Amino acid sequence: MREITPRPDELLRIAVDVARDAAETARRMRAEGVRGVDTKSTSTDVVTAADRAVERQVVAALRDARPGDTVLGEEYGDSADPRSRPPGAVRWILDPIDGTVNYLYGLPEYAVSLAAEVDGVVVAGVVRNAATGDEWRATRGGGAYRDGERLRGSAQTDLAHALIATGFGYDPARRRHQAAVLAGLITEVRDIRRFGAAAIDLCRVAEGAMDAYYEKGLNAWDHAAGGLVATEAGLRVAGLAGAPPGPELVIAAPPALFGPLHAHLLRLDAAGGA
Ligand code: IPD
Repeated sequence: MREITPRPDELLRIAVDVARDAAETARRMRAEGVRGVDTKSTSTDVVTAADRAVERQVVAALRDARPGDTVLGEEYGDSADPRSRPPGAVRWILDPIDGTVNYLYGLPEYAVSLAAEVDGVVVAGVVRNAATGDEWRATRGGGAYRDGERLRGSAQTDLAHALIATGFGYDPARRRHQAAVLAGLITEVRDIRRFGAAAIDLCRVAEGAMDAYYEKGLNAWDHAAGGLVATEAGLRVAGLAGAPPGPELVIAAPPALFGPLHAHLLRLDAAGGA
């Protein structure tokens, strides 16, 4: 008999417990000193022993809590072939440390990002800043919260006075294009912020601490949980020209800012380049 798909709030409860323990591991390992630094796609794209240890810990904890589920993690990939997943099955999407460069430098802006997806739809997500303990959470249809307070995004309606967050990939060719897009946008907005952890950027936009966010090149683990937090805070989270949010582009903005920001990003070919 097939297991009944769990409710989003049950998945969120598991996600929060697992992410809290994982964030504590990341914090403790950072306090003990950064170890096992390797590089991935380029010489500036780093992975540490903590990224791997946290991912292993989360995978083991999820296996204990819900043995039938699968996990897509940044460091170890998909634990099962996505095509073999039965309808209604839960896949967890994990970034063990989003903001690894901040972790490396001891900047307090790195997070465990954990989302639960059912049939390709993210239904629950939590982002926990491991350095500060700040935590954002959301369930699909159930709203986004930080410390029990419902999040509603920014009330800004004028792009010229909007504070826009973004980020850059690790590949120099991609960065060249991203820099050109940024050069074309920065004259149209209040200012730009680059903090270095996409999941936290999305949550900050959800709570209205910044007005909007965009980035090219994100993977599912970067935006699954934060994207749900932003959506549930009432933001529009999408790609360019009707595309869903994904590697080509993720835009998160309140409805009033989405149109004008999207128009500039389309004009600047923000989803293009390497
Ligand atoms: C990175 C961060 C960064 C974003 C990069 C991501 P990582 O994730 O989220 O803010 O600009 O695109 O790759 O490598 O620290 O997990």
